[in-house]
Amino acid sequence: MSGEGPAAVRPLSVRDFIARRRSGEKLVMVTAYDALFGRLVDEAGVDAVLVGDSLGNVIAGLPSTIPVTLDQMIYHATMVRRGVTRALLIVDMPFLTYQVSEQEALRNCGRVIQETGAQAVKLEGAGEEVIRAIRALSRVGIPVMGHLGFTPQSVLAFGGNRVQGREKDAAERLIADARRLEAAGVFSIVLELMPADVAAEVTDAVTVPTIGIGAGPGCSGQVLVLPDLLGLNDRFTPKFLKRYGNLADQVRRAVSRYGDEVRQGRYPDDEHSF
Ligand code: KIV
Repeated sequence: MSGEGPAAVRPLSVRDFIARRRSGEKLVMVTAYDALFGRLVDEAGVDAVLVGDSLGNVIAGLPSTIPVTLDQMIYHATMVRRGVTRALLIVDMPFLTYQVSEQEALRNCGRVIQETGAQAVKLEGAGEEVIRAIRALSRVGIPVMGHLGFTPQSVLAFGGNRVQGREKDAAERLIADARRLEAAGVFSIVLELMPADVAAEVTDAVTVPTIGIGAGPGCSGQVLVLPDLLGLNDRFTPKFLKRYGNLADQVRRAVSRYGDEVRQGRYPDDEHSF
């Protein structure tokens, strides 16, 4: 109808996410950490926005995701929620907020869902404690995305950002873990840093969509960390990363031009004064 503004867009649900795997259309996910970028990526038409605990590395300047806290994730996810109206909003659960006990996992994930308005949480790994948490969360209706391969919260055990599943037994373990995650109730699984053929085999082994990062083209969709894909985080140069912008250079150039004009008395001029 005319005169009523743009038609409201229906937000994506986890069911839409699962249906997309069946239809064969690739899923597109990116991270965001605040309302401004949440709005921009939502307007760009992504299917899912992940409030990743990668904010520890890319926003807070920490060496890993391990120090990120639940309150910090809730703070950032609340901001992102204000910008995202259509895409599925998923929040990373930080280190040790879901492994200690089923009760703690329920309380902490429940807080994220209640306080941020996100539609799902993401948990790393497939250890017994994680499987127990996923089962409990599924029972109370909290959708969970899994995460296999290089799981950044285990970086100390891995000894760095290393490609996983290169050996046959390690690849078989990834396939078995993906099946266990699916049986426990996840609606989707992130596959990070593994050979492309292994990620394709893992994808074939489950019916839920897999979302790859450094895992080749055989996944149901892809995720990238937003400052990496925009070329803002220009000191991070892994092989899998393709930059779709060069914002770090643009920021340096814009701020330096602004500095020059202020120093030379050329800004503000008449056009920008009252
Ligand atoms: O924290 C994060 O941004 C992630 C993605 C890399 C999948 O977990």
